[in-house]
Amino acid sequence: MRSKIVAGNWKMNKNHKETEALLAELSAKLPDTNAEVMVAPTFVNLASAVEHLESSAIEVIAQNMHFEESGAFTGEISADMLLDIGVDTVIIGHSERRAYFGENDEILRKKVVAGLAKGMRIMFCFGEELQDRKSGDHFKVVASQLKNALFGLPAGEWAKIILAYEPVWAIGTGETASPEQAQEMHAFIRKTLTEAYDAKIANNVSILYGGSVKPGNAVEIFSKPDVDGGLIGGAALVADDFIAIIKAI
Ligand code: G3P
Repeated sequence: MRSKIVAGNWKMNKNHKETEALLAELSAKLPDTNAEVMVAPTFVNLASAVEHLESSAIEVIAQNMHFEESGAFTGEISADMLLDIGVDTVIIGHSERRAYFGENDEILRKKVVAGLAKGMRIMFCFGEELQDRKSGDHFKVVASQLKNALFGLPAGEWAKIILAYEPVWAIGTGETASPEQAQEMHAFIRKTLTEAYDAKIANNVSILYGGSVKPGNAVEIFSKPDVDGGLIGGAALVADDFIAIIKAI
């Protein structure tokens, strides 16, 4: 049975004091839920966040990692460094990493393989641009992103993969994919995974939707059979909104 997951990607937001305050509010207001709840603060606040949430059901995850183990990679963070502070799940391939930092399919494949080699869980992000959808190429683009970064993995590694479909045109825009659009793409992703591997693997992978999920649309989006939760940006930075989204799953 695949997990329901609500994850907050804080991106480059919240200083140390603001991070501690938000974590305290989330811990205090966290409802009973069968879903896995995760937050991804910035690197500088990860270790203190792990410490702060030690007795909480909320998991701290990382927003990125490098594929090298160590060395002359200024500004980068390795899998071992994340594991060393108690972080064992990492977001890989977010559209902002692809767009602003040149992370292509080959780099992302290396990051996925490096993280899995260390026993980490990988939350792999992918999704089409607006022009891909307008031209009807969105399925082809999504299939290519999955194939090029993930489909060389041994079947056994898929237990450590979480997929996060984030149509780029819906990220931070307030322009959410409709529940029907999300379900259509999630079903396509699961079908593509079934063809590349088998139905058991495809049915056990959690596929999250990301892109302007808010308290007002979360219930409908999460009600779709192939939507297993959400990767939340802006709404994750406001405790009451993130809690409302958790209650929606
Ligand atoms: O990683 C989640 C993020 O890209 C979605 O952002 O602000 O549209 O919820 P937002």
